[in-house]
Amino acid sequence: MLLDYRGDRLYFGLDQRVCLAEFVEFLEEPLYLYDLRHFARRYERFQAAFADLPHMIHYAVKANAHPAFLRRVAELGGGADVVSGGELQRALDCGVPPERVIFSGVGKSQAELRLAIASGIKQINVESVGELRRIIAVAESLNKQARVAFRFNPSVDAETHPYIATGFRSHKFGIDAEAVMACLSLALAAPRWVRVAGVSLHIGSQILDVGNFAEALRNTRPLVAAMRARGFHPATFDVGGGFGIHYDTGDETREQDNFARYAEVIRQGAQGLADEILFEPGRFLVARCGILLGRVEYVKATPYKTFVIVNTGMHHLIRPALYQARHRILPVVRRGERTVTADVVGPLCESSDFLAQGIELPELREGDWLAIADAGAYARSMASEYNLHPFPDERFIVE
Ligand SMILES: Cc1ncc(COP(=O)(O)O)c(C=O)c1O
Repeated sequence: MLLDYRGDRLYFGLDQRVCLAEFVEFLEEPLYLYDLRHFARRYERFQAAFADLPHMIHYAVKANAHPAFLRRVAELGGGADVVSGGELQRALDCGVPPERVIFSGVGKSQAELRLAIASGIKQINVESVGELRRIIAVAESLNKQARVAFRFNPSVDAETHPYIATGFRSHKFGIDAEAVMACLSLALAAPRWVRVAGVSLHIGSQILDVGNFAEALRNTRPLVAAMRARGFHPATFDVGGGFGIHYDTGDETREQDNFARYAEVIRQGAQGLADEILFEPGRFLVARCGILLGRVEYVKATPYKTFVIVNTGMHHLIRPALYQARHRILPVVRRGERTVTADVVGPLCESSDFLAQGIELPELREGDWLAIADAGAYARSMASEYNLHPFPDERFIVE
């Protein structure tokens, strides 16, 4: 396990590389610690699961945009899925070749599209007819051809938190079959400025029921058939990201089994849909490999509740406040048998500033350090400087 005790001390990393009690000895401020080797291992396993299928992994930069991850992806031969000009520039700066970059998102600006088209990226996933019109205009102004795919909304009600479900018809993401066909006509009428690569999907994040992916793929088949009937053969089929992890345990066995089911669903569902299958995984690659370390400032016992007040909070890890996410929280040194039921809260002047509510922890004292598990994805990348607290530092186990 990536995060586990030896005796009363918590170790982190593959081969239990770092004794956290020693690591925090001279630490004052909260910090993210990542094991880059675990990230690479996950990437390689993902790759291996689809070895017999022409495919490309485009790491979803939004999950964690630290250059170390992007450089490693580039070294491993992977690509990037970006959702802003900033992410696009970061991916290129980190050595991801433009022909391995996909650009998703509903609100791409003129400037972002100029950067994407001028850089010659692999494909822009179009999310509205208006966007396609804008792409054609920008491509013409640059005298360059853009490659596009149409992000289809397959109307799947994925079982995940409502804020991270994206594939139902009432969501702002993607376009329905009729709009895809309208886009196809528009694109085929402007062959000098756009080339259509294929279709893309992304139905949401932290999805554990692989049936949701199967349904999305099933719902997409008639669309691809209709496109074919129009004489268009998709070169790429982008299945998006979204495969989740089990935050409730550090044991990855269940997850690996579920991943095997996911691979099977994709393999069957995407069969024959295009020449190349594209993936946009974020969380599955990077969530496990990071922890957030925070120190207990006070233990505040009230007649109603006990609060463990730490020097990190929703400004560094917003997932508990925003998505009611539950991250395991483990003391760096486990002391004694006695436990306490407490809320782990941060220093911000917001009642939503909590990392966990009503959890059982070994008894803690001021100055103790805690490790918040599985904080590699949507953690630092969603952090803020709210209340003018600085961003936490980030450190890596590299080899
Ligand atoms: C378009 C797109 N692709 C990929 C991802 C990555 O999703 P995940 O980190 O759940 O794999 C997201 C995130 O929701 C996304 O919006």
